[in-house]
Amino acid sequence: MSDQALLEIRDLSVRFSASAPPAVRGVSIRVEAGTRVGIIGESGSGKSVTAMSVLRLNDERIAHYGEESSITLDGRELLKAPLSAIQGVRGAQASMIFQDPMSVLNPVFRVGHQVRDVLVAHRPELRKTAKALVIESLDAVGIRNPAAVYRQYPHELSGGMRQRVMIAMAIASSPRLLIADEATSALDVTVQAAVLETIGALADDRGMAVLMITHDMGVVARFCDYVYVMYHGEVVESGAAADILTSPQHDYTKKLLASVPRLHGDQPRTA
Ligand SMILES: Nc1ncnc2c1ncn2[C@@H]1O[C@H](COP(=O)(O)OP(=O)(O)O)[C@@H](O)[C@H]1O
Ligand SMILES: [Mg+2]
Repeated sequence: MSDQALLEIRDLSVRFSASAPPAVRGVSIRVEAGTRVGIIGESGSGKSVTAMSVLRLNDERIAHYGEESSITLDGRELLKAPLSAIQGVRGAQASMIFQDPMSVLNPVFRVGHQVRDVLVAHRPELRKTAKALVIESLDAVGIRNPAAVYRQYPHELSGGMRQRVMIAMAIASSPRLLIADEATSALDVTVQAAVLETIGALADDRGMAVLMITHDMGVVARFCDYVYVMYHGEVVESGAAADILTSPQHDYTKKLLASVPRLHGDQPRTA
């Protein structure tokens, strides 16, 4: 391990009100360049709040970060930076994808134009070649006939295809970190496996790190090198995915594993 990871979340605490307990408490997570790190936990355990903190996507009118909390990307402190500076990080250095692609796709515009607009917003110097780059990105995420899909509207595509378009949008400007928040959770099992494989291949090709957020140990088994287990806003266990899958220490991790019978037969990626 290098001294400084690509992403370092240190002692992150996030509160939404002074009276309620913090939603996230003392969370520390490292993501080395080019690696695949998972955060697993049940609904409400603080995974999304943690992930959104990296790109400062929590509603900061109500979300407050702890004084001691720090998040650095490539050595640059993000939590204390002005939001205007974070705009330059979003998409360019780190991108995020979500469960619902329609949260980022506008139904009334052609998908290619939307991916192009996002690319040009991050990389204005690419305006002239943007269309070709977008078609390349659509191709890279496994969309067949990308030139035709470029001209289609979101409703003309299947859920899996829309998910791939959102991934193309996220990776078009070649970020070093992709944060995927339950990005495959709504897909049926075979589509989920294919989309995970696509994300993995892109990550390997580009040396892009992935922070994979999921409630599903099957996703951890298939995708992650390293995993953090969150419970009630805290990290309760972390380690190499292969170790956590074969010898979980925390009772909660054991429960998560026990609830995934179809894990049998899945080989941990790092085993
Ligand atoms: N905007 C918000 N206002 C108040 N509480 C919130 C907000 N967003 C998240 N929380 C609280 O933070 C906790 C963690 O939520 P979240 O990170 O979304 O969980 P998950 O692990 O399911 O992604 C939950 O208890 C949730 O109620
Ligand atoms: Mg969530």
